[in-house]
Amino acid sequence: MLEVANIDLSYGASRCLRGVSMVAEPGKVTAVLGRNGVGKSSLLRAIMGLERIQAGSITWEGKDISRLGPAERARAGIGYVPQGREIFPFLTVQENMETALAAAPRGSGVPSDIFDLFPILRQFLRRRGGDLSGGQQQQLALARALCARPRLLILDEPTEGIQPSVIKDIARVIRHLSRDRGMAIVLVEQYYDFARELADLITVMVRGEVVLQGPAGDLSEEAVRPLLTV
Ligand SMILES: Nc1ncnc2c1ncn2[C@@H]1O[C@H](COP(=O)(O)OP(=O)(O)O)[C@@H](O)[C@H]1O
Ligand SMILES: [Mg+2]
Repeated sequence: MLEVANIDLSYGASRCLRGVSMVAEPGKVTAVLGRNGVGKSSLLRAIMGLERIQAGSITWEGKDISRLGPAERARAGIGYVPQGREIFPFLTVQENMETALAAAPRGSGVPSDIFDLFPILRQFLRRRGGDLSGGQQQQLALARALCARPRLLILDEPTEGIQPSVIKDIARVIRHLSRDRGMAIVLVEQYYDFARELADLITVMVRGEVVLQGPAGDLSEEAVRPLLTV
């Protein structure tokens, strides 16, 4: 279980996160929703250790990981798919996936079932990442994260700029990872319908603060949607 408790994060003098708390549990999807600029990506980067928090704590599987660096958190079982995907354009699909093996248990390669989840990647193994479509790059970014065998997967706007057919494929994979494999998933989204379909728990942020939080079934669309649309 991931427990983020009362974290503060500032960039210089500007407060970005104020007392943010949220949890992610094995087998469940926690959706973090909010408009552009409310601090969603900063929250994920804080969980991954890419930003240093000034207050609060981040606990994963019972241990306080607040002071660990990103590589140590990756080895502790936390996988991260950043906003904009950040695949390596000049590396092949195969090589992109292999970059994640540094965080995998020793001696493990690319998981054999990765192509059951993303059949398109098998076909494109030798193609350069930069030559894939946006949707294919998003699938590659997800596959790369899975190569490290994470128990917690954090995803930053996986549907951004992606065509509907691929969005469906990605939703199917996320559901499979949580329901069938018991992975804990944190999903940052602006696209309400996608998040609603997958989420067990919902956290809504406004200007660096959590304004609504609870089991997805307890939060009505009328309460959440106005906090997302401009
Ligand atoms: N590295 C940074 N340095 C300074 N300000 C930043 C940095 N990253 C994000 N911000 C600011 O922090 C706020 C939250 O950004 P972000 O976490 O990217 O929000 P979201 O992902 O919800 O769009 C914004 O006002 C943004 O401009
Ligand atoms: Mg963002």
